[in-house]
Amino acid sequence: MDQLLIAGGRPLNGEVRISGAKNAALPIVCASLLTAEPLKLTNVPGLRDVTTLVKLLKGMGVESQRSDNGMILVGTDIHTPVATYELVKTMRASILVLGPLLARCGSAKVSLPGGCAIGERPVNLHIKGLEAMGAQIRIEHGYIVAEAPQLKGARIFMDTVTVTGTENLMMAAVLADGVTILENSAREPEVVDLAECLIKMGAKVKGHGTDVIHIEGVKTLHGAEHRVMPDRIESGTFLVAAAATHGDVTLVDSCPEALQAVLEKLREANAEIEEVGNRIRVRMRGPNHGVSLRTAPYPAFPTDMQAQFMAMNTVAEGTTVITETIFENRFMHVQELRRLGANIEIEGNTSIIRGVPSLEGAGVMATDLRASASLVIAGLIAQGETCVDRIYHLDRGYERIEEKLGLLGADIRRVAGQEGA
Ligand code: UD1
Repeated sequence: MDQLLIAGGRPLNGEVRISGAKNAALPIVCASLLTAEPLKLTNVPGLRDVTTLVKLLKGMGVESQRSDNGMILVGTDIHTPVATYELVKTMRASILVLGPLLARCGSAKVSLPGGCAIGERPVNLHIKGLEAMGAQIRIEHGYIVAEAPQLKGARIFMDTVTVTGTENLMMAAVLADGVTILENSAREPEVVDLAECLIKMGAKVKGHGTDVIHIEGVKTLHGAEHRVMPDRIESGTFLVAAAATHGDVTLVDSCPEALQAVLEKLREANAEIEEVGNRIRVRMRGPNHGVSLRTAPYPAFPTDMQAQFMAMNTVAEGTTVITETIFENRFMHVQELRRLGANIEIEGNTSIIRGVPSLEGAGVMATDLRASASLVIAGLIAQGETCVDRIYHLDRGYERIEEKLGLLGADIRRVAGQEGA
C-alpha cells in the first residue's frame, strides 16, 4: 500500500490547476446509461472512483474511450443491468446506476452499498422515490432488485436532503411517463451540473439549483457533449493547505461561485481572497485565527471540507468548534491529528479544537477520503516528517495530489509501503 512522506513546514506558493469534479463526473458518467448515443465528456478527473465506475458500466454494456481528460461513453445495448457487490462495496456512488438502469431497461439489480467509515449512509430515500414512481423493489441476498416496465412521474418529498438520492431520482424521472416533482432536493452545484448535462441530452428539467426540481419525462434521450464542472472540494482543499502553511496560491480553472461558504470561512480565518473569473488567490494577512463552523447541505458549509478546516484550526489562535450535522461518524481524523500533537476533544457531533503552537510529524493512517486530505494538510504544517498510510483513500478523490502539491513547493513524495502495512 502506498504512503505519502511529507516534510512539513514549507509554505505553498504558485498556481495549481483544479481538476474536474469527482462528485459531478460520477453521476454524469452514469447518465450515459440513459441513451444509446455517445456521451462525450471533457474535464473528467483521472481518479480511481471514475475508473471503478467505468468498469462497472462496461459490465452492463457501456463502451468507453479515454483520452487525456476526455471520455466518450456509448451504451448502445445495456445487456446486463446489474451492479455487483464486488464493485459497489469499493464505491458507494455506484448506487447512482439504479435510477438510470431502471429508466432505460425496466429492471435493475444493484448491490446494497453497506456501511462506510463515516456513517451508516442508508439509501432508503432512493428506494422510496423509485417506488413512488411505480417501481416494484425488493431486497434479495444483499441486492436491491427493482422492476418497472415504465416508470411514472410522481411528486416525491425527500425528508432528508440527499445529493446522490436527488441525482438518482432525477435520472429515473427524465425517461418516466409524465411529470416528476422532487421536493426538498439537494441544491449542490454537482446536481446542477448533472441536470445541465441531462438537458443537453434532451431531458426536460427545471428548478435544478433550488429545492424543487421539476422533470417532464421524454421518450428517449440523445447523445451530447458536456464539460464536467471544476472540483469545489479539491479547490477548497488546496485553499486551506495554502492558508494553513501561510503560502500564496492561485487556483486556476476553479469555481468561486460554488465555494462561497468556504471562501467566507477562509476570510474569517484571516486569509485574503481574490476572485477573478475562475481563478482564486489566497494568502494569509497575519496569524491564523481559526474558524468555528457547522456543516450543512449546500449552500452552507460542506461536510467534505470539515476535516481540512480542522487541520488548519489545530494551529490557530484560541479555541474553535466544529459541528458535523450530515454524517454521524465523521471525526475519524481526530485521533490521527492528535498523534501529530493536536489538542481536540469530541463531544457528540462537535469537536473542540484548542490551538497549539505547532504540530510534530508522525506516522498517521488515512481512514476516508476527506480525512486523508486533512492529514496531508496537517503533515504540511507539522515540523519534521509525517508519513500518511493507506492513501488509496486519497487516490479515490484527488488527482495527482502529491504532484500538484510538489509543484507548489511542498516536500512530498509517494513511496510503496511495506506488505501488510
Ligand atoms: C454525497 C457526496 C459526498 C458528500 C455528501 C454530503 C457524491 C458521490 N458524494 O454523498 O461526497 O459528503 O453528498 O454532501 O456526490 N440519507 C438518508 N437516506 C438516504 C440517503 C441519504 O438518510 O436514502 C442521509 C445520509 O445518511 C446523510 C444525509 O442523508 O446523513 C446526506 O447524505 P447524501 O447527501 O445522500 O450523501 P451522498 O449522496 O451519499
